[in-house]
Amino acid sequence: MKSAPVIAIDGPAGSGKSTVARKLAQRLSLRYLDSGAMYRAATWKVLRDGVDLNDEAALAAVVENMRVELLESAAGVVVLADGIDISKAIREPELTARVKYLARMPAVRKGVGAWQRKFGENGGIVAEGRDMTTVIFQDADVKFYLDASVETRARRRFDELQGCGQDVDLDELQREISERDRSDCERETAPLRRAHDAVYVDTTGLTIEDVVNILIAAVEARTG
Ligand code: DC
Repeated sequence: MKSAPVIAIDGPAGSGKSTVARKLAQRLSLRYLDSGAMYRAATWKVLRDGVDLNDEAALAAVVENMRVELLESAAGVVVLADGIDISKAIREPELTARVKYLARMPAVRKGVGAWQRKFGENGGIVAEGRDMTTVIFQDADVKFYLDASVETRARRRFDELQGCGQDVDLDELQREISERDRSDCERETAPLRRAHDAVYVDTTGLTIEDVVNILIAAVEARTG
């Protein structure tokens, strides 16, 4: 395998891509880029500062003037915004529901995209999100599109949030996931779509380990 490959993974919310990407990065000794965490971090700051969610220039200015760091830890990715640990706060449902206001604005995507390209400038990463294969790392060495049924994805989110001690309702989560699919796929700027050169993996019924093994085999086949 090339010493500093870029592996890009896209897919809808709950397709398992965060956990898979993180484990894949660990197994291949690469850094993990959780691109959604960057959108969440920007949303956190915007909400904290009470910025109008429809004011594109003001939202882009927030992104321009903040610093986001993703640090690896045994417990997962630690997300720092201007040095403040916001790892937990960015997973709250109220914040999750508002990320779409930023994600649909070109000026915001430009700023957050610059953070992501900087993270990957020397390669050696597994980047995961909605537009990693189609926009940000179009020249990635290997691309994947991970998918799963809405029911499976809602159940996974349910288990994940319950594991973090959050009180959640399965039907409500399924509605939220369907709504996020709509906003991720139907927005005009960088909508979620399958890159023509991405390997498609339906993870319904597969364990995380199964998926990681499928991806590793594909990476080895493509990078030698
Ligand atoms: O992967 P996630 O659930 O943490 O992502 C949160 C939101 O961020 C998601 O609903 C859409 C947005 N996002 C995006 O627009 N582009 C990305 N590359 C990653 C996430």
